[in-house]
Amino acid sequence: MAGATVPGSAGGAAHSDAKASRRGGIHLVRHPLVEHHVTRMRRESTRPSEFRGLVRRLAALMAYEATQDLPTQPYRVTTPICDADGVQIKGRIGIVPILRAGLGMVDPVLDLLPMAEVWHLGLYRDEATAQPVSYYDKLPAKRPVDVAMILDPMLATGGSATAALMTLREWGVPQVKVLSLIAAQAGVDAVASQFPEAQIYVCQIDPELNAHKFIVPGLGDAGDRIFNTL
Ligand code: PRP
Repeated sequence: MAGATVPGSAGGAAHSDAKASRRGGIHLVRHPLVEHHVTRMRRESTRPSEFRGLVRRLAALMAYEATQDLPTQPYRVTTPICDADGVQIKGRIGIVPILRAGLGMVDPVLDLLPMAEVWHLGLYRDEATAQPVSYYDKLPAKRPVDVAMILDPMLATGGSATAALMTLREWGVPQVKVLSLIAAQAGVDAVASQFPEAQIYVCQIDPELNAHKFIVPGLGDAGDRIFNTL
């Protein structure tokens, strides 16, 4: 899948090849299927049942891209015929959905990484201030995962992603990936400048936030559209 590194105003170390690099930066996932599904997701007439399917498909496409640099180690197996050399993913991987909307991305990512641990973070954006409010965090004090993948379909101001990254930094996670389907340019730039080591994957970057800090053109509120609470 073709990906592209987007120069942000962040000053974060941008990388030119997701496969070869573990450096941080903003990585735009480019693919006709991604563009097709994002367009349908944006449509106001798309009902929640279809919207959920689109989120799942995009999460899987994005996870494929975002896992290209996962380390592997040799793993020898016995086939019905003889022994064969293979590999297995090395280290512990944590999938970290931001409640609520991030839940819509968990199953497809877990399908690709069935050995992963799932750690939930509850954050909602205060409607008046647009600041993230934490309401759930049960991360253990010790034994951080080796790689964490934050899942949230939307990155607007970047406040929620920043709060999640700070929590994971405190936990001691050495490598963090943020997977958001749609982001605002200002939001990804803000996150990348505060966490230049983080790998930020997005399907599309929209130019603006409106007065209510909604992404424009965006798709409305992903959580409401996934859970039919419009
Ligand atoms: C939305 C979205 C992100 C956040 C993005 O969640 O899913 O978590 O807002 O905005 P930010 O980048 O400005 O922080 P919301 O607060 O609507 O909660 P929900 O998932 O429960 O709908």
